[in-house]
Amino acid sequence: MGARSRTDQLREASNPLFNDRKLKLGTFCSNLSGGATMASIEGILQAKWESSLALARLADEMTFEAIVPVGRWKGFGGTTNFNGEGFECFTWAAAMSALTRNCGVFATSHVPTMHPVMAAKQAATIDHIGGGRFTLNVVTGWYRPEIEMFGAPLLEHDTRYDMAVEWLEIIKRLWTSEDEFDFDGKFYQVKRAIIAPKPVQKPHPAIMSAGASPKGREFAARHADVNFINLDAHDFEAVKARVDASRKTAWEECKREIQVWTNAYIFQGDSEAEARATYEDCVFKNGDWEGVENLVNIMGLNSLSIPAPALQTLKQHFIAGWAGYPLIGTKEQVVDGLALLERAGFDGIVLSWPRYLEDMRQFKAETFPLVQQAGLR
Ligand SMILES: Cc1cc2nc3c(=O)[nH]c(=O)nc-3n(C[C@H](O)[C@H](O)[C@H](O)COP(=O)(O)O)c2cc1C
Repeated sequence: MGARSRTDQLREASNPLFNDRKLKLGTFCSNLSGGATMASIEGILQAKWESSLALARLADEMTFEAIVPVGRWKGFGGTTNFNGEGFECFTWAAAMSALTRNCGVFATSHVPTMHPVMAAKQAATIDHIGGGRFTLNVVTGWYRPEIEMFGAPLLEHDTRYDMAVEWLEIIKRLWTSEDEFDFDGKFYQVKRAIIAPKPVQKPHPAIMSAGASPKGREFAARHADVNFINLDAHDFEAVKARVDASRKTAWEECKREIQVWTNAYIFQGDSEAEARATYEDCVFKNGDWEGVENLVNIMGLNSLSIPAPALQTLKQHFIAGWAGYPLIGTKEQVVDGLALLERAGFDGIVLSWPRYLEDMRQFKAETFPLVQQAGLR
């Protein structure tokens, strides 16, 4: 009897992330003020429960495979204090799991802010609430002011991933071991650890990682079922090469199949010119340029030798939608863009819109039927 792969096991499980759809879809950052857009425009997302829930319900009605909240504890200052208000990911995911029926629900965890026993137990609870639709997004943290709120030092970059390896190992054992176990690591010591009940997903819930550095990519390849990547070039060949590299690392180095996803932002108009005008109004006229300066400084991007024009373009992408892939144009052009990403090899895309609620409603009414007609879902 041949052993079933992790992917096979997950496909048989209840998480919609492993359905057969050609292009899976999700929402990104619907739990925080601003959503993914750093601008003071009318209709920008507020950190209000009714709005966040309405977005989850729209995703649920379109049977999206993912609603992915961002783990954020502090805003970025500037004129909007981007993402400065928002809902904590695990409690958010628990409620969303109870109030939706179809969509995959994620929680994003910062390793140093949560003990693994707590994370394992909360994740198992959410997996029960949603009937096996939960995915854990593991992030190591990079925004020093928020990690220091916990009295924890922000460790050196690669050491953060060493800590995440131990953190996740304890969590996976808690999810799967019927017996109590001890763990004596460099970062964690646990004694006679156990949780019950086990999660609904067998052998355990799906794991996502957005690691991008060599160490981060290795972490994703070895431990995650889904690697989220952020694209720094948008032409087809460059995009395809990035997707192939992520999949290949997992397969060649770890003999693991993983999904590859990215984030994209949508500015849609009745004409391409109208969509571009909305984009320019949002980014150049109303963008939070002070906030984005803070963001790139904190990320250390100013100190890298990125040429000035490229850094300027990157800042525009951050303002428009967390530096996602740009989908700007008519509804047909938006669908063409999604089709291109699918052809480049992506399994899924998490989306954001500048006027999140109004724009996502329009997407559901006008654009989503075209996505289906294009055979992407
Ligand atoms: C789609 C996506 C979602 C992410 N979500 C979060 C998040 O919620 N919180 C966070 O602190 N970092 C988040 N990150 C940052 C990553 O966890 C990671 O730090 C970043 O991609 C850099 O990779 P590295 O850690 O390998 O250097 C996200 C990145 C991407 C691409």
